[in-house]
Amino acid sequence: MTDTTTSRIHNDEALESTLEELMKVERFEVPEGFRDQANITDPDVYAEANADPEAYWARRARELHWHTPFTTVLDESNPPFYKWFQDGELNVSYNCLDRHVEAGNGARVAYHWLGEEGEERAITYADLHRDVQLLANGLKDQGVQRGDVVGIFLPMIPQVAVAMLACARIGAPHNVVFGGFSPESVAERMEVSEARALITVDGARRKGKVAGIKSEVDRVMGHLASLKTIVVVNHAGVDCAMQEGRDVWYEDLLSSSAPDCPAEALPAEHPLYILYSSGSTAKPKGIQHTTGGYLTGVAATHRDVFDLKPESDVFWCSADVGWVTGHSYIVYGPLANGCTSVMYEGAPDYPHKGIWWEIIQRYGVTKFYTAPTAIRACMKWGVEYPNKYDLSSLRLLGTVGEPINPKAWLWYHAVVGGERCPIVDTWWQTETGHIMISPLAGLVATKPGSATRALPGISAALVDQDGNEITEGTGILVLTRPWPGMLRTLYGDDDRYVSTYFERFGPKTYVVGDAARRDSDGYFWIIGRTDDVINVSGHRLSTAEVESAIVAHEKVAEAAVVPEPDELTGQAIVAFVTLNGTLQGDDVVAEEIRTHVSVRIGKLARPKSIIWADDLPKTRSGKIMRRLLRDMAEGRELGDVTTLRDPDVVEDLRQKTQARKKS
Ligand code: WTA
Repeated sequence: MTDTTTSRIHNDEALESTLEELMKVERFEVPEGFRDQANITDPDVYAEANADPEAYWARRARELHWHTPFTTVLDESNPPFYKWFQDGELNVSYNCLDRHVEAGNGARVAYHWLGEEGEERAITYADLHRDVQLLANGLKDQGVQRGDVVGIFLPMIPQVAVAMLACARIGAPHNVVFGGFSPESVAERMEVSEARALITVDGARRKGKVAGIKSEVDRVMGHLASLKTIVVVNHAGVDCAMQEGRDVWYEDLLSSSAPDCPAEALPAEHPLYILYSSGSTAKPKGIQHTTGGYLTGVAATHRDVFDLKPESDVFWCSADVGWVTGHSYIVYGPLANGCTSVMYEGAPDYPHKGIWWEIIQRYGVTKFYTAPTAIRACMKWGVEYPNKYDLSSLRLLGTVGEPINPKAWLWYHAVVGGERCPIVDTWWQTETGHIMISPLAGLVATKPGSATRALPGISAALVDQDGNEITEGTGILVLTRPWPGMLRTLYGDDDRYVSTYFERFGPKTYVVGDAARRDSDGYFWIIGRTDDVINVSGHRLSTAEVESAIVAHEKVAEAAVVPEPDELTGQAIVAFVTLNGTLQGDDVVAEEIRTHVSVRIGKLARPKSIIWADDLPKTRSGKIMRRLLRDMAEGRELGDVTTLRDPDVVEDLRQKTQARKKS
């Protein structure tokens, strides 16, 4: 290995001094070695796309295979119910599989799958093509027809991709539920989407333990009249009862099905899937995506943002397939582009805390896409884990899901990327379907913590409360032009679709629900959800900004900031703080942190209270549940905690919060 591919960080001391040095860098220019090989280096791409966005998206759509070419691009006659490529017909699974097999790439690996206990499988495009047709025929044999909703409740195993593509092949919209959700949540989602079939598993493995899944599904699903079939993958060797006439083993279905299932030509606006996401009320929103527009958007952004070289890249998105990130960048984007991906069944710290870096070394991962919260966990574990492995195959790193604090960005840049890999901080949502704001790595200089600018063909802006555009400063993030991958509605609830996203500023302005800042270069800095803004003495402060300041303190591993009512200032800041390693919190450290925040942002941002937390309540996807912390700080009853990764964390913090109030 040469110096250009090896991290110079060998221990904590070297790390601290490198980070200190990097903190002074405001802008990271495109690394020269990267620009030389980048797909997109012409700055005119933005102006050209934005001069005629419809022509731009039509061109991108034509990169796919259309059974019937479209003649119209955007129909905006009934806003906000937009339609794209309406008279065209295509099939997502044809685009993800047949196209590559017919081009002679059937032997290319689609997924390097690694199981929790170290099992490996290389699944080629030809393998997927075969299994998807068998399962699609099997589903048809079970009575599933075009338009029927099929639920999918599976762990990170190759069958999850097969299941999604089989549905896409026959035009049955899938409704994937993240494997970590409770069976009750699955039942609720099956009920509201009137699912005709469910594809699930005997049991799931997690950190060396096996949990029965099918038995749990049986417990809660029996009353659903619409559910006629349950297909069960035999994965973990768990015994389960099979109900005659309803339940069928996945393996039996495949072995008894006909091998050929031609992909159906589906109208571009045919729904591809529903994915439930939490909104501002307790009732989840069924985000509905389409066939033509969605695939156009994910294929184009996967190619552009990750500077994809389908023949040579090994792409790894570490999300779970049960979230939109997994739908778009584990399944549909990578497969539409015919590239090789990694799929990992397990947790980042099982069987050991270096497993992610071992995977990168083992498969020669070139592009790695993960979440800031995961990066912060790795920071906490220490540089010794990544340092044990050769990460020199990496050429680009990405983040998604929440604002990344500059310290985590710089750690990722220095320790994982060896200071040579550009980082794409990608902003988007379940609703947008694909990445919207992100650097193009060969073209756009990055600033740690900023997602930079909207991609070509996408129009993002900041507005004030009255809808006036703000070109520099802080405001409400909006998208001012329809885009192909946008949600089309909320399943069965057009009114909620309109009222959630298009009521405030009219049917042409999609309200994102995030606040952002725009700097003098026009770069976007996502502050966070608009409901995560704290108002202290009339000064609006972002929880994310305060958290970032706290986390930048050398003793801090992670922090979550919430408001609590305050007689004097309206709201005051409460910070839940996890310290590094075995450090213990006391008044001295608390004062250090307050001073630190005061220096970085200003006195008004100093947390009034600091509560030491061994861990923070997180969803199974790793997002901090600020809502729960807010409820605690405000002394309210705690709502639903069943979606938490570790519910015990909440009880500990609740006691500490109460003890503080009494004292
Ligand atoms: C947040 C995940 C800052 C944001 C793909 C958004 C981000 C919500 C970023 C959507 C980012 C996502 N920087 N914040 N790069 N990416 N977010 O639907 O608040 O799970 O509205 O989609 O995550 O979350 P969702």
